[in-house]
Amino acid sequence: MNYRHAFHAGNFADCMKHALLVWLLDAMARKPRPFFVLDTHAGPGFADLDAEPATRTQEWRAGIGRLARDMPPDALARYLSVVARLGRYPGSPALIRALLRPGDRLACCELHPEDHALLRRRFAVDPQVGVHRRDGYAALKALLPPPERRGLVLIDPPFEDADEFATLAAALQTGLARFPAGVFAAWYPIKHRAPIRGFFAALQESGLRDLVAAELWLRAPLDPTRLNGCGLLVANPPWRFTEEVPPMLDALCDRLAERNMGEGTALIRLADE
Ligand SMILES: C[S@@+](CC[C@H](N)C(=O)[O-])C[C@H]1O[C@@H](n2cnc3c(N)ncnc32)[C@H](O)[C@@H]1O
Repeated sequence: MNYRHAFHAGNFADCMKHALLVWLLDAMARKPRPFFVLDTHAGPGFADLDAEPATRTQEWRAGIGRLARDMPPDALARYLSVVARLGRYPGSPALIRALLRPGDRLACCELHPEDHALLRRRFAVDPQVGVHRRDGYAALKALLPPPERRGLVLIDPPFEDADEFATLAAALQTGLARFPAGVFAAWYPIKHRAPIRGFFAALQESGLRDLVAAELWLRAPLDPTRLNGCGLLVANPPWRFTEEVPPMLDALCDRLAERNMGEGTALIRLADE
């Protein structure tokens, strides 16, 4: 396990994922019944952007650094207000925890010993958060369905393995088989298009219903050695996802992309309800 999220905290991909995550959490909180969140690949939970290792890569400058600079676009105001409240820069567990209500629960899985220890310390006395040092993919079987019967599952793997897209497609099938009513959000990198076409085809062949992919790319995805963009595959998207997320993607693209490099956004319906 070489990947350490602290090097990449607050970069454009984090901003895209977290802006949509905040939207999804707000959508879960529209109904009064308690909900459960499973964060299968949780990371360290928080990164100090003024310290190592974030200062070494400076990736955040082209991400949250640009978004937080001037007046936020309306579509991103909610996400940026949550970040401002928590400090730069919160990882998914910190964002999720901030948006839980009394009675809601979060379970985080993290395999890296140091990142797991950071999470453990952060949530040591929090009765609403469970921290597990276990394989997040295996947790889809172990922790689903939750007793609450309402929930959001974030799957955010590091994409270190060549077959991660296939693993992710299989994980979505496993998770949705156990928890068909759950909202699932799975992050994926856009380097070039070929692996994503395969990922989408696998999902469509699996017969899963109600799948939407939200995508942002900063330049045409032609160079497979670069992270040109990213996507979030959402199963069972909450009401108004397809109306409210495109303006968020456009605002992210407007602030984060260089001009005339083939940048763009998309909301792709892969399977009907
Ligand atoms: C992309 S980072 C997560 C970032 C985090 N979700 C966020 O948004 O702030 C992926 C994390 O997954 C961890 N990891 C890798 N393989 C894992 C596995 N099989 N189960 C659980 N965690 C894993 C890595 O150590 C890394 O911290």
